[in-house]
Amino acid sequence: MPESITITDNRTGSTVDIPIVNGGVAASDFSKLLPGVWFYDPGFMSTAACESAITYLDGENGVLRYRGYPIEQLAEQSNYLEVAYLLLNGELPTPEEYTKWSHDITYHTFIHENVRKRFLEGFHYDAHPMGMMVSAVAALSTFYLDAKDISDTAVLHKQVVRLIAKMPTLAAAAHRFSVGMPFVYPDNSLDFCANFLSMMWKVAEPRFEPDPALVRALDILFILHADHEQNCGTTAMRTVASAHADPYSATAAAAAALYGPRHGGANEAVIRMLTEIGSVDNVEPFIQAVKEGKGRLQGFGHRVYKSYDPRAKIIKRTADEVFAVTGKNPLLDIALKLEDIALNDEYFTSRKLYPNVDFYSGLIYQAMGFPLEMFTVLFAIPRTAGWLAHFKELLEQDSKITRPRQLYVGSEERNYVPIARR
Ligand code: CMC
Repeated sequence: MPESITITDNRTGSTVDIPIVNGGVAASDFSKLLPGVWFYDPGFMSTAACESAITYLDGENGVLRYRGYPIEQLAEQSNYLEVAYLLLNGELPTPEEYTKWSHDITYHTFIHENVRKRFLEGFHYDAHPMGMMVSAVAALSTFYLDAKDISDTAVLHKQVVRLIAKMPTLAAAAHRFSVGMPFVYPDNSLDFCANFLSMMWKVAEPRFEPDPALVRALDILFILHADHEQNCGTTAMRTVASAHADPYSATAAAAAALYGPRHGGANEAVIRMLTEIGSVDNVEPFIQAVKEGKGRLQGFGHRVYKSYDPRAKIIKRTADEVFAVTGKNPLLDIALKLEDIALNDEYFTSRKLYPNVDFYSGLIYQAMGFPLEMFTVLFAIPRTAGWLAHFKELLEQDSKITRPRQLYVGSEERNYVPIARR
């Protein structure tokens, strides 16, 4: 018996059979039976807005795969640039393809002098680096006018390379500006992550030599954050892309969504929470307060993962490797005690609340010296690969422009009253 559902319109008795394909049913089939009746689904809680072959996520079993490859294997054996290639092209690169890809990215790291001197330096001295990033990425579209030609695959590829290559440069420039330090030009002899650390931290030394353990840790964090299927930022990306906007404008829209504290800001919230708790002695009363509904345990719980977040497991190991170099983040003991108590408490286990990716990533970034305001920027750099993979996929699918309907709940028609008579 084929898998299908039957819908009956009780007003008319008409029915329609709709096959279940890939775990979904086509809304267009409903509409044939029910023209003018819309599916009300705020937050897209029950809606699959697209078909995608990029990332697979099984929240019940804690599974995350990019193009079929388990995240654990990629984090262990791959690097961010290779993963970016995989997300964008569907296959791991051959040695020749990888050499060309990493060369192209490395040689597009510079930003136009006007982006830095006129644009970034025009911000107020205390501008938030993520606000600067969102605007700077959008501004890039005015520097590369060919970017509008999204139907030309060679031209589109060039923008993809530029965006992935320039995100770390923009991020570091935003940081240096916000702390009053001079801009550091990219060093193309360094690899992707080492170059970013050089642009962040170089002072007067002729060549910045980052600790290899920290470079690798950053690479792993970038792999883990590269894509996460249809989250808020990626949905923004696909929505703007569906209007055939250029990739810079669409990436800026996705980054703007990520800027929101409900989305990319949770690791910052974890550090603020741990700082507020202050000592391991205060953990139990804090947990008690959470259970009484006074606030949430930041870095716990996930809309999709209901057993564990596979990224959190990998990050916990990475944290140990980073702390071996930087010294232990003093907040770690508080985090470990919180985790231990929560994982053994019926309140959290019965609600399937486990540590998510953000529970430990903030501790790592802080130990590496990144200010809290940079945490969301650190998320945006690698997520750019995922956003662009979705941009490309959407164009290949030739989707319709995103244009949902609404259920109107406002006033009936009424007559305008001149201001003097109101
Ligand atoms: N601490 C305490 N209780 C919680 C928490 C938490 N972190 N998260 C959920 N709950 C409780 C919630 O109060 C509710 O209890 P009850 O049924 O008694 O009302 C129940 O668990 C279900 O919560 P929900 O809000 O319906 O769950 P959701 O799926 O809508 O929310 C979430 C998911 C991630 C927004 C939420 O777990 C949360 O706010 N977590 C803290 C913030 C956080 O760490 N966010 C990062 C998410 S991972 C980033 C990424 O992958 O992009």
